[in-house]
Amino acid sequence: MFIKNCWYAAGMSNEVKNEPLARTIINEPVVLYRKGNGDIAALEDRCCHRGLPLAHGQVLDGLLQCGYHGLTFDHTGQCVRIPGQDKIPQGARVKSYPVLEQDALIWIWMGDPALADPSQILHYPWHNDPDWAYDGKYTAINANYQLLYDNLLDLTHVGYVHRNTIGGEPEAHSNAEMKTTRSDDGVHIIRWLRNSMPPPMYASAFEFHGKVDRWIEIEFSVGAVRIYSGAKDVDQGAYEGNREGGLGLRTLHAVTPSTEDTTFYFWTIARNFKLTQPEVGEKLCQQVEATFNEDKVILESQYKRLQQQPGRPLIDIAADAGAIQARRIIANRIAMEASALNSNTANIA
Ligand code: FES
Ligand SMILES: [Fe+2]
Repeated sequence: MFIKNCWYAAGMSNEVKNEPLARTIINEPVVLYRKGNGDIAALEDRCCHRGLPLAHGQVLDGLLQCGYHGLTFDHTGQCVRIPGQDKIPQGARVKSYPVLEQDALIWIWMGDPALADPSQILHYPWHNDPDWAYDGKYTAINANYQLLYDNLLDLTHVGYVHRNTIGGEPEAHSNAEMKTTRSDDGVHIIRWLRNSMPPPMYASAFEFHGKVDRWIEIEFSVGAVRIYSGAKDVDQGAYEGNREGGLGLRTLHAVTPSTEDTTFYFWTIARNFKLTQPEVGEKLCQQVEATFNEDKVILESQYKRLQQQPGRPLIDIAADAGAIQARRIIANRIAMEASALNSNTANIA
């Protein structure tokens, strides 16, 4: 079950160059490519002639040509050329999707195109901010997307799963001061780890003088989780809003369901230190990738076990508060879309 009427990250801008790129998003095969002016286009990845995925084809003069018999489509999905004949049959078209690039990400709308409002696309200014430098990748997760949200919204796992990377002391995570606030469409979680040891990744990237005050601030909205984390030497005002001179990291975690069992995890990490040293960014990116691969192992193993007995109840603990709120928001949106669909169907009948 998926929300359809929302903007999902379909990829990073730098992933789509001259070749078409295939992505399955909420069970629908999509092909992304660049039009003649460089803008992104997104079409159903299934030729209306004999069904070959259009991603096998090529982009010619900003149009997408099928790799089987050469039918050619424009960005609206209309077939505009058929080799060897002038007449284009009625219905020679494929579905097209609203798609836009913003902040170095490609955002796609899989639901009702009439409801696609570009102002609802998540703003992520740190990809364009000269005071921050970022790197990013994507990790394919063979598990349902809800497990990834759960993982990102309950960071007590950090001390256990990521002991060797961003973890630090497990007790410091479990005992962190935590505040969860819910808005209509989002959840905000603040976690403070006072007077704790800097984790290995922080210690290797930044010079601290002993123990630190750490902060982890998590914002969930449908389609993405944004996390602002960092650390500063103890008692230097980190919790009073003075984070200057500390280590700051902003990570974007765009969560895009591919199928019920697979998820695209697009992530970036932006830093506010050593901006002119690209090797620092590369090393951070490698460490983050190693960290998220630790999550991947957990999520895929967890999902396999859950699938053996779907629906069997699990218990909740206090640290689940944010994840439970996010699940409610997603469930509400899915239910609202289903009831709008039902009432439309009833009106038509
Ligand atoms: S299947 Fe695409 S042109 Fe024939
Ligand atoms: Fe994790």
